[in-house]
Amino acid sequence: MTLILGLETSCDETAAAIVRDGRYVISNVVAAQHKLHERYRGVVPEIASRAHLQNINPVLHETLDQAGVTLDDLDAIAVGHRPGLIGSLLVGVSAAKTLAWSVGKPLIGVDHVRAHLHAATLLPIKGSDPVSKDSQNDPGPLAFPALGLVVSGGHTSLYRMTSPIDLTLIGSTIDDAVGEAYDKAAVILNVGYPGGPKLDKLGQQGDPTTHDLPRSMLGKDSLDFSFSGLKTAVLYTVRGHPKGRGAAARFERSIDDLSEKHRIDIAASFQAAAVDALIKKLKRAAQHMAEHDEPPRSLVIGGGVSANSLLRTRVAELGEQLGLTVRIPAFDYCLDNAAMIAGLAYTHYQANDFADLDLPAIASGSV
Ligand code: KG4
Ligand code: ZN
Repeated sequence: MTLILGLETSCDETAAAIVRDGRYVISNVVAAQHKLHERYRGVVPEIASRAHLQNINPVLHETLDQAGVTLDDLDAIAVGHRPGLIGSLLVGVSAAKTLAWSVGKPLIGVDHVRAHLHAATLLPIKGSDPVSKDSQNDPGPLAFPALGLVVSGGHTSLYRMTSPIDLTLIGSTIDDAVGEAYDKAAVILNVGYPGGPKLDKLGQQGDPTTHDLPRSMLGKDSLDFSFSGLKTAVLYTVRGHPKGRGAAARFERSIDDLSEKHRIDIAASFQAAAVDALIKKLKRAAQHMAEHDEPPRSLVIGGGVSANSLLRTRVAELGEQLGLTVRIPAFDYCLDNAAMIAGLAYTHYQANDFADLDLPAIASGSV
């Protein structure tokens, strides 16, 4: 039995978790900071770093308490050290190094984006009981080769996966990430903060056929994504075409001039277009892998947008259509969390892939 503590502070969630043997989540604590960033309608990096400093120790204690383990019981300490906001990452990385050094445990650096693709294999478990009720629903580890899609606030990336850590990027966004498009459309549609989940909920109530918003395909064979055109289309649909440019631009109307039904229908149409673009590229990517003599055995998604209701349904349908096993994270593991960090760290642990105390925090550059 291998117990790994994971820490995650790459953006605005301070998180710690203890995971057994890479998949069984014994405790998972997340301190979100939504209230602090709400008035700015987006994450303010300096505010996020300060909040991490305040939260990291209480979150760590709660994680150990919930799991009923001490630092001495751990086999390793893992931290998401890239990519992310540099000030935020540094809090988690410094805490992990300090803990590893002071209790004499190995340190493991984990890539946040890869960890999102591990999230679908995590299973909550009570205490350290290997045959708890939950484990009877255990779908097992991922079958490789797999086709992976990370959909978050910073990434929209397709990967060909041959192991949990051997990933080849085969497509990514050329402009906005899909989560970013959700967040920006949420501001335009004035749905509140955090935008993604609120827009998802609002969109479920509307008619997605009312507005034919663009699904950017970027050429016949492209596996890349583009969401900036969709965002602009939502802006013009809500406010009309602007007269003038830049700061001098004047729109025909404001969001307040739209009826509630109209606003909800635009939200639904946005959601349909965003998810359609993701599904079309997933389908293309599966074909691409098959043409390269490596048809995927499973389809896995991860990242904040994998909590999206429509995407979850459509990915499940696509899997059925293509005859692939589909793996979608439980809601607790879609948004940023440390269970995915501790879970993926087990693969590094098995490969004796440990970090030194000079492990850097790296703002950009994932797989
Ligand atoms: O993975 P994540 O927690 O952080 C990053 O690594 O970026 O993803 C956050 C993103 C945000 O853009 C948020 O609006 C989006 O995930 N998101 C959603 C939903 N829940 C979170 N987008 C659409 N529908 C949702 N239900
Ligand atoms: Zn993330």
